[in-house]
Amino acid sequence: MPSSDSQQPAQPSLAPFPLVGRAAELGVLHSLLDDAEKGRGRTVFLSGEPGIGKTRLSEELAREATRRQWVVAVGRAYAVESGVPYAPFADALLPILRALPPSALAALSRGGAAELALLFPLSIDAPLGRPSVVIGDAAELKTRLFWTLLQFLIRYAEKAPLLIVLENLHWTDPSSLELLHFTARQLGGARVAILCTYSTSEREISQVLRATEHSLVSVGLASSQQLTGLPASATTELLRRVFGAAEETVRDFAGMLFGSTRGNPLFLEQTIKSLVGSGRLQQRDGSWHGWQLDNLQLPEYIRDLFLARIQRLSPAAYAVAELAAVVGVRVSHDMLRAVCDLPTHELLGAISELRRADMLLESTEDRNIVYDFTHPLLRETVHGELGQARARMLHARVAECMERYYGAGALVHANELAYHFVRSDARELDPKAIAFLRAAGAHAAARHAHREAASYLQTAFELAQRGEGDTDLRADLIEELALAKQNSGDSRNALALWEQAQRGASAAHALPRLAAIERRLGNLHYSQGRFVEALAHYDMGIAAAERSHDELALAKLLTSKTTSLEALGDTKAQAKALHDALAIAERRNDKKLLARVHRASALFYLWLGMKDKSASHALHALEFARASGEPAEAWSAHWALAVLSALTGDTIATKHHFVEARRIADELHSPVLHLRVDEIEIEYKSATGDWPSAVEQASRSIALARALEQRTLLPRLLTYTGILSVGRGELEEGKRYLDEAWTLSGAAYPDNRSGDVHTLVRVYAGMAIYHLAMREYDEVMRYGLIGLAVADRSGYAPWSVHRLLPTMIEALFWKQDFALADFYCERLRHDSERVGQRVGVVLAEAGEAMSAMLRGTTQPLLDAVIAVADKIDTIPLAFDGARLRLEIARRHVEMGDRDSAIRQLNRAFEVFSRIGAAAELEQARAQLRELDARPRTRVPPSGSPLLSPREKEILLLVLQHKSNKEIAKAIGCAHRNVGKHLENACRKLDCHNRHEAAERARLHELI
Ligand SMILES: Nc1ncnc2c1ncn2[C@@H]1O[C@H](COP(=O)(O)OP(=O)(O)OP(=O)(O)O)[C@@H](O)[C@H]1O
Ligand SMILES: [Mg+2]
Repeated sequence: MPSSDSQQPAQPSLAPFPLVGRAAELGVLHSLLDDAEKGRGRTVFLSGEPGIGKTRLSEELAREATRRQWVVAVGRAYAVESGVPYAPFADALLPILRALPPSALAALSRGGAAELALLFPLSIDAPLGRPSVVIGDAAELKTRLFWTLLQFLIRYAEKAPLLIVLENLHWTDPSSLELLHFTARQLGGARVAILCTYSTSEREISQVLRATEHSLVSVGLASSQQLTGLPASATTELLRRVFGAAEETVRDFAGMLFGSTRGNPLFLEQTIKSLVGSGRLQQRDGSWHGWQLDNLQLPEYIRDLFLARIQRLSPAAYAVAELAAVVGVRVSHDMLRAVCDLPTHELLGAISELRRADMLLESTEDRNIVYDFTHPLLRETVHGELGQARARMLHARVAECMERYYGAGALVHANELAYHFVRSDARELDPKAIAFLRAAGAHAAARHAHREAASYLQTAFELAQRGEGDTDLRADLIEELALAKQNSGDSRNALALWEQAQRGASAAHALPRLAAIERRLGNLHYSQGRFVEALAHYDMGIAAAERSHDELALAKLLTSKTTSLEALGDTKAQAKALHDALAIAERRNDKKLLARVHRASALFYLWLGMKDKSASHALHALEFARASGEPAEAWSAHWALAVLSALTGDTIATKHHFVEARRIADELHSPVLHLRVDEIEIEYKSATGDWPSAVEQASRSIALARALEQRTLLPRLLTYTGILSVGRGELEEGKRYLDEAWTLSGAAYPDNRSGDVHTLVRVYAGMAIYHLAMREYDEVMRYGLIGLAVADRSGYAPWSVHRLLPTMIEALFWKQDFALADFYCERLRHDSERVGQRVGVVLAEAGEAMSAMLRGTTQPLLDAVIAVADKIDTIPLAFDGARLRLEIARRHVEMGDRDSAIRQLNRAFEVFSRIGAAAELEQARAQLRELDARPRTRVPPSGSPLLSPREKEILLLVLQHKSNKEIAKAIGCAHRNVGKHLENACRKLDCHNRHEAAERARLHELI
């Protein structure tokens, strides 16, 4: 309790303490700025016990950044806020976002201002924004928000580098950590530096923080700096500089001080202030006295030091400090006036007393005066002194005053209000607590902060349980909580809650509610790979929807049901469900529903290989998606059409559709949809022979897929890259990619039915291709057969023939098992013809012609193989065609036709060198050598994609006599990457140094 005696001795004010003893740590932090200035943004985690100087160091860094003309954004987490999503990010970034004119905001976020407004309320007291489009699963939608912010930051920092300081992360919400992880992982090329601080004494409360730091450090995108106490010499220096005293005067005292504070700066500072405050250190005749203390009799904890200072406050100042501690976060002057019942002049007096006593800090924010405690521990000490009963009483008072203060806008501040209402712990206030908790939960869910939403709703649910009664309210709460848990990944508890909700709805005969709940249950089981259970729930939902004549619910249930049927391979039932759903959609002429059902049907027929039906549904889906303004459905339709065109060998249409799909992904700010387009584009480039660009794109996509934790896409991308590496003769590297894909896809357990069929089949094909290159033909067959079995089980014919069968057939040729090769050729031809897959048909023809020729060459048989090779080139399947020509050349030699052999080898040589297929290139060269011929050209004609765009750009700069360092700066990439690109260019152009490579590229008009 404060003393009522306000007659205190006047405290001489000390100059602010200078920074001492942190040269090394500051050096590390300055290098963070140096790196980010060069476009190598990264993150530093600064940790240490309370008071060790984390805030002080981050302030010093902010000062340095400002001196270098950076933009600095500082955000803090508060103990009381730990449920408010993205709080420290909002704190840091809102001033920047609000200061931008709307046109600049729109340009920098590429039209994503709505997404940003959803993360952070852009205008004060504005209702929550809505994203431009709300389709997609929870994870995908959240990624879109994060992606928009990331792109904004990268573009914003192009003008001036940006330092983001996030303070006290031990208190932050899990969503902020997720956002931090996402952002920090992708800032590699940007001029953004992030400094995070957290207190180690609170660290055990956040596993998520620990995991975030560990993950970023382990991939080299962040470093950790743990602060320890200042050295003894720094204590002496501090005293010398604060008191202007000679070293001899303070030496003993400094030793004693250091001994008892262990160099903790906060402890040092508070001890000194308390010695000055109590008059034991005094200023007389311009110098300080009192250094000859026998012992310091220091209190053991910093808290006690704070307590001593608090107890000297007048009752009014103490009361204001209590209210500020209960509010808990930075508090505006107006708010303090609203919750405090002191007359204005007393309030003002109390505030200035607190400021003089160095307890409250005043600043302005958006033209409002705001106050904060000078140190978080001070707030904790004041709050800790309240005692439970008084704390509850004050929280109730703050809650009610705040509600009045916010008036009509109260719901926007639901989380603050909920926080205080809950802590009031007064039953009569429960309804209000529940109302604000639900609103806070809804806000959090809208911002994809599902864990926070779940925690608000959990509290609301518990409060509702102890009350008398509104059963409807309780039923609503169960569903809201179940959804939040499900979206936050807690499927076990979500399931229990949905089942509870289902029992309730069933007992109350609430059919529409029951239908919706069953659909949720079905989706939940489906996402966990329990397809049979999922089906049972969908069917119960269908029954409920039918009984209540709810057609819309019925159509949705039928469409959802098809996904489980697909997983179980029940194509007949799937066709029926889609047919029924389509009939409803058509009867209702509901364009949105029509888009959705047609899209699902397009994919269904695509996997079945019924290309005409698939194309027709996809085109309808496109039409209805446009008519109902559903870009995500249009994206799906284009995606399906691109895959379809690729399978039928129509490369022009493939390109058209993936370009369209990419445009929509861009509009939607969706990195996941981009990645899925990347997948098609990489395959397209691999097939058409643009390997360098495919490799480059794949490595970028893999990095993004890793960052986005894409569990099905990542193994597929790894497989493509692995296959490409094998093709380029980099067998070890290829195997590494394929092994990782193998592990991630769960291919080791092909019986596990929840594995994604499309991914598994590709992973098996990748392994077969690797073993073919290793000439381990039995292994090729082993992987091939399991892959075929997986594909057969699902009925997805096009996928099995795509890569697997041709690889197996080739292995059989090497094994000279022509009968079995013929058997698979026939199957390849049959399956491909059935589904109209031109690529497969042509490859089957190649296999058949080869098989005949290998058994005994004659001119007509050879001519047949040549005709197929020409056909393959028209698709084009550059690599396959050229490989066939190697074999053709061998047969020409056998038939004594040297000239034709050389012609074929030269054609093959050109393709291999263009796409960089090292092993085959060597093979062609060797065959030419045997014929005493030289390759006609070492470098392909101009316009070829041999060099990647980056390599071309760099070679052009080499021609301008720029150093690697200058090039790195000019094109905004890392110094060592320039070296890597040049190394690649040298290898591709067969040159010994960068100048030779640049000259050769110019000579051949490659740049
Ligand atoms: N190197 C230093 N030299 C002089 N004073 C310092 C130094 N480091 C910290 N201080 C002072 O010590 C006090 C405590 O430091 P600071 O607030 O930075 O600690 P913190 O680690 O952020 O604590 P918390 O975990 O409680 O937030 C501050 O008043 C600060 O100015
Ligand atoms: Mg601090």
